[in-house]
Amino acid sequence: MLTKEYINELKIKGNGALLKAISEFTDSGTLASLLEKLGYLPKDFDGNLLIPLLNHESHQIRLGAVKNIGKLEDIKYIQILSKIARQDTDSMVRREAVSSIGRMRHPQNKSILIEMLNDLDPKIVLQAIRGLLVFKNDKVVENSLKQLYKHPNEMVQTVIRKEFFTQSTNKTGQPHTKTYEFLKNVVVNGDVRDVLKIVPDESIHLTFTSPPYYNARDYSIYQSYQEYLQFLDKVFREVYRVTKEGRFFVLNTSPIIIPRVSRQHSSKRYPIPFDIHAFLVNMGWEFIDDIIWLKPETSVKNRNAGFLQHRKPLGYKSNPVTEYLMVYRKKTEKLIDWNIRQYDWEVVKKSKVMEEYETSNVWKIDPTFNKVHTAVFPLELCNRVIKFYSFKGDLVFDPFAGSGTLGKAARKLERLFFLTEQDEKYFELIRNDLSNKTIFSDKEPKFFTLEQFKKII
Ligand SMILES: C[S@@+](CC[C@H](N)C(=O)[O-])C[C@H]1O[C@@H](n2cnc3c(N)ncnc32)[C@H](O)[C@@H]1O
Repeated sequence: MLTKEYINELKIKGNGALLKAISEFTDSGTLASLLEKLGYLPKDFDGNLLIPLLNHESHQIRLGAVKNIGKLEDIKYIQILSKIARQDTDSMVRREAVSSIGRMRHPQNKSILIEMLNDLDPKIVLQAIRGLLVFKNDKVVENSLKQLYKHPNEMVQTVIRKEFFTQSTNKTGQPHTKTYEFLKNVVVNGDVRDVLKIVPDESIHLTFTSPPYYNARDYSIYQSYQEYLQFLDKVFREVYRVTKEGRFFVLNTSPIIIPRVSRQHSSKRYPIPFDIHAFLVNMGWEFIDDIIWLKPETSVKNRNAGFLQHRKPLGYKSNPVTEYLMVYRKKTEKLIDWNIRQYDWEVVKKSKVMEEYETSNVWKIDPTFNKVHTAVFPLELCNRVIKFYSFKGDLVFDPFAGSGTLGKAARKLERLFFLTEQDEKYFELIRNDLSNKTIFSDKEPKFFTLEQFKKII
């Protein structure tokens, strides 16, 4: 057993003791572990002790040897390291060699790292980029890196774009944390496609929505599934446009079943979240997370009765107790930290989620039933999404507002809301629920028809 004390003792005793230990450990596991645990090397450590290990048959030992040679950051090992970087059969060992070369930050190594940019393994290319970014202002290095703009690997592309081609998408002149007065605590009765046409770019901080189902309820009739997806595509493209740089879009959907026409036909199941996902990624939304909303089995329609009786394979039908919350972020080269830094410290502090919270991606929440609307969000679902993905004072948007649950949650959590709902009955429901409640802000809710909204904008 290699204890910390034993390894420290070896290091204090010096090169002789280390060499003895290395040559005496015939078992590769122990030797690899020694190399892994060596930690900081003594000043007079002789890297030559490790050179024979670079040809060891165990890739873990070769990896450990390269790592420790790398720690020395000594240019005299450059030839041997670049040979390993080019020729070792294990890609992790090669990557470690490129990392060690980069860590030396020696101008002499630029050409070796530039050569590594042509490697077929994206890991190696990324490591070489990392080493070269130290010399970002050198013209040769800059040109070599810029050529990777169209590299087949998306991670490589992202790094290069961020380093050399980043432009802020904010052309509105609106600060990131602010939005337009005419959108604050506003509900519009109209088709979201018409309403969004007049909403300015980059005005929304967070969108959380549950779109109409495909033919499952009376308010949602589409000629075909394709037409339904195209409708959502159109709406979410606009949501993308009106969302602020790097901000979130949370989409609640689940696969849906269209019941069979008769006993001679089968029912059809449509995997809506999976089909929409491709559309969303295509239009620029970056996939961040998938959260499962888990409901009690007693709250959903039982599809199991048949199988319970006959127990014949192929006839099994599970009860769908889950829905998806797919989390996306508007594409940006900026880190989430950049978004956070746009806010005053006081706002960040007030928006922190200090209470206990769900740490897994399975959220157990009972569904809510409403006398007027057949498919409403539970308030708790909106509360969580708003708290996790927005700051106090932000504008949160639901294009398919239904009964306006998101608006209610937003008000309580000191966010502003913007809602669109095309059905007048539901619009009136929202008006009743949200009017005259001064929980937060001097901004009383306003309710407009599309025509009225067009006039105030
Ligand atoms: C699943 S419900 C949303 C329920 C909502 N999350 C709630 O908590 O009450 C979808 C809503 O989208 C509305 N809707 C459907 N098509 C629309 C459109 N083109 N523009 C605006 N609203 C629409 C429907 O009337 C329905 O109320």
